[in-house]
Parts: sequence; C-alpha cells; structure tokens
Amino acid sequence: VIDVALTRADVRPADVAVVIDVLRATSTVTQALDSGYRRVLCAATVEVALGLRAAGRVLAGERHCVMPPGFDQGNSPQEALDRRGDELVVATTNGAPAIVSAARHSPTVLLACLLNLDAVAAALVSDGAPRSGDIRLVCAGTDGAVALEDLYVAGRLSALLPGPRTDAAKAAEAVARAHARPLDALAASADADVLRAAGLETDIAFCARESALRIVPRVIEVRSDVALIALGARRASSAVPVDVADTVMA
Ligand code: MLT
Repeated sequence: VIDVALTRADVRPADVAVVIDVLRATSTVTQALDSGYRRVLCAATVEVALGLRAAGRVLAGERHCVMPPGFDQGNSPQEALDRRGDELVVATTNGAPAIVSAARHSPTVLLACLLNLDAVAAALVSDGAPRSGDIRLVCAGTDGAVALEDLYVAGRLSALLPGPRTDAAKAAEAVARAHARPLDALAASADADVLRAAGLETDIAFCARESALRIVPRVIEVRSDVALIALGARRASSAVPVDVADTVMA
C-alpha cells in the first residue's frame, strides 16, 4: 500500500520510507551525491552536526534558511554543486530530522525530490516494494505543518507507482494534478515565500528541475542522531562497510 505522511510527526513503521523535503534538504543531499560527495551524514540537530566536524567533512545546513555559525555553507543545493570535501554533513530544521526519524522506523529509506523523481520511482518499482510491502512517502513539512511543495512531490511520486493507495496518497495526487508545472507548486508555497524573503529565490527554480539527476540517496546506516546516506547499497549489516560506523561515531 502506498501512503503519505503529511508531516514528519506522522512517521510510522513501513517497509520502505521515502523522505521528501524538496525545499531544500533532500534536493541538497541529492545534488551533493551527484557532485561527488562520497557520503552525506544527516544530523538531527545543528549541535550534532558541529560535533561531527572532522578533516574532509563539509558542514552544510540552515536555521531559518541561513547558514548556522560554525558551518561551511548553507542548505542550498546550488552550494552543493562544487564538492569541497569527501563527506557532507547536513543539518536542517525539518528535512534532516525527518530523515533521521524515518531511518529509525523503516529498514529501507530513500530520499526524493524533483531532481530525482523518475530515478526514485524506478528504484521503488525495481525493489518490488509496491507489490510486496508498504511504501510511506514522508513529507518533511515545515515546523509541524503541511508543506505544499512536499505534498506536491509526494503526489507526483505516488502517481508513478503501481498498487493500492490510501486516501492521503490520493489527496497528494490531487494536489499534484492541480499544478501544471513543478515550479507552479513550489513557487506557490509558504516556504518559497521564506526563501524569497531571504534572497534565496534562485533555489526555487533550481529545485523544480524535474528528473535532472539519476541519483537515489539511500540511508545505509543510522546511529543515534545521525543517518548515513550514500548511493546504491542496501541497508543491511553485511552491506555497511566497517569504517562507516566508526566514521559516523567519531
Ligand atoms: C528544512 O529542512 O527545514 C529545509 O530544508 C529548510 C530550507 O529551505 O533550508
């Protein structure tokens, strides 16, 4: 069954969780992996991210859309275009905690946005999840409230998947159908207003570029308040390189 969690407070156990924070956390992680970062360490808080500082790591994130003190760059996917280290540590207000929470509840967690919409849909279908288990599309939302842009992406993704769906998924698909272009949905959101007020409006169009990347970020390990994200490898103890756990906890 395909279901949609309207906010991260609605995270529940599911066979597969797909976390969506299109403005901007999951767009930034997707872009970072495409840019060549080997791994992304998603931290539940800014303080946790600061504690992960190490050689080769770049700290990216935001509070109120602005780069926190002690960080190297903001939460803009455009800032992730150039790789400045080996690993990106990401801490954001809604998206990063949603990823960590989903990783605690589901054995398989993917990250979706518009940049990788088709790639995530293909991965879900090839995993066999639509036929064999529950898929929960987790909208990060904004400060506990529904975010139009996340619901739009959840609806677009749901519409690409076979199988039965809940009313929440049908509602998300209706939101998706109501917008002719991705940019229409993103630009109409309250979060877009906040980005415009912060002078970050170019990120809105950047994040609206549908299926520009063939990248499917996947949680490969979760420890305490950190989710480790990489490409490809399934999350299973045998699939996690030995140094991963050491590195996360270092
Ligand atoms: C979040 O996680 O709250 C967002 O990604 C905020 C942002 O646009 O930076």
